[in-house]
Amino acid sequence: MTLYADNTQSEGESSSSVLLEMMYGYQKSQALFVAAKLGIADILSKGSKTADELAKATGVNSRSIYHLMRMLSSVGVFSTEDNDKFQLNPIGKHLLTGTSDSLRGTVMAMGDEIYQAWGNLLYGIKTGKTAFNHTFNRDFYSYLKQDSEASVNFNEWMKETTREWLLPVLEAYDFSEVKTLVDVGGGIGTLTAVILNANPKMQAILFDREDVVVGADRVLEGAGVADRCQIVGGNFFDSVLPQGGDLYLISRVLLNWDDSDAIKILSNCYQAMTVKDKLVVVDFMLPQGKMSPFIGLGSLNLFVLGGTFMRTEDEFYNLLSSAGFTVTNTIKTTGPVSAIEAKPA
Ligand SMILES: C[S@@+](CC[C@H](N)C(=O)[O-])C[C@H]1O[C@@H](n2cnc3c(N)ncnc32)[C@H](O)[C@@H]1O
Repeated sequence: MTLYADNTQSEGESSSSVLLEMMYGYQKSQALFVAAKLGIADILSKGSKTADELAKATGVNSRSIYHLMRMLSSVGVFSTEDNDKFQLNPIGKHLLTGTSDSLRGTVMAMGDEIYQAWGNLLYGIKTGKTAFNHTFNRDFYSYLKQDSEASVNFNEWMKETTREWLLPVLEAYDFSEVKTLVDVGGGIGTLTAVILNANPKMQAILFDREDVVVGADRVLEGAGVADRCQIVGGNFFDSVLPQGGDLYLISRVLLNWDDSDAIKILSNCYQAMTVKDKLVVVDFMLPQGKMSPFIGLGSLNLFVLGGTFMRTEDEFYNLLSSAGFTVTNTIKTTGPVSAIEAKPA
């Protein structure tokens, strides 16, 4: 899957149009967000509608939604029939709620608070501080704790990106000998569920913040693996992490924390583990040389949300070593993440 188009100039395209396309990009992105927020795709899934009908169904202004829908149709998100009715097309279908290829959570998460925080990127670049905290007077995870809609959108975003980015980990890493997996910061259990499904004898412990794991039952039950997964709510900065796993998985967690916090989380994993257990860090790695737009934008997004950047392979090794681990294997996947396997030294 192309994650972000490589916006370098292609043949026949003028350099000015490349730059302008980048600059106007946020307008498309906000229009998509508004369509997702209003649930337009779900309404159109029951049949094509005029702007008046859409306005009535969503409680918004008829004239403005007409122009929104025409604009989105012009860039290919919806289609227009001759009679001025709008209908779903393959791109717009990704805005549907709850479908197997939905990207609505991504659009909702990106288009709301994260978009607002990016509006303070200049502040972040000038000060080196976190734009999100500057925008909302609290850190990202505290914000999610007090805003249930933002929290649902974030967890859906994680679910959708698990599908798009993390599944190659299952092909790259052999989980078949693992008896009990502990998924540290495993969110609502999307990745845990996929790994359990692929390994029918495995048990798992899903660990995340208490306010997050309340959403895990539905995911685990939906995947038919709830009977093999214990759900534990807690804080990974406290020293008590679940014991009894033979593989501790820490996927897309360290990227949110600076070195001292990341070492604390890893040290708390270390405390819960025996010398026979393994730790697997699944994360994005910053290349030394040329990087893809996906990594460049993703790293800057981390900075906007939490003041961190993606790490290089060496930086991960240093973290692991500082927390008492020896790296045993580093596996590149066909997706954008890598897996680093380590054991307590
Ligand atoms: C970027 S998400 C990754 C989720 C999942 N591991 C994945 O790869 O899809 C980071 C996770 O860390 C969790 N988290 C943040 N702070 C935490 C804390 N203090 N204790 C436990 N979990 C925490 C969040 O709730 C979130 O689910």
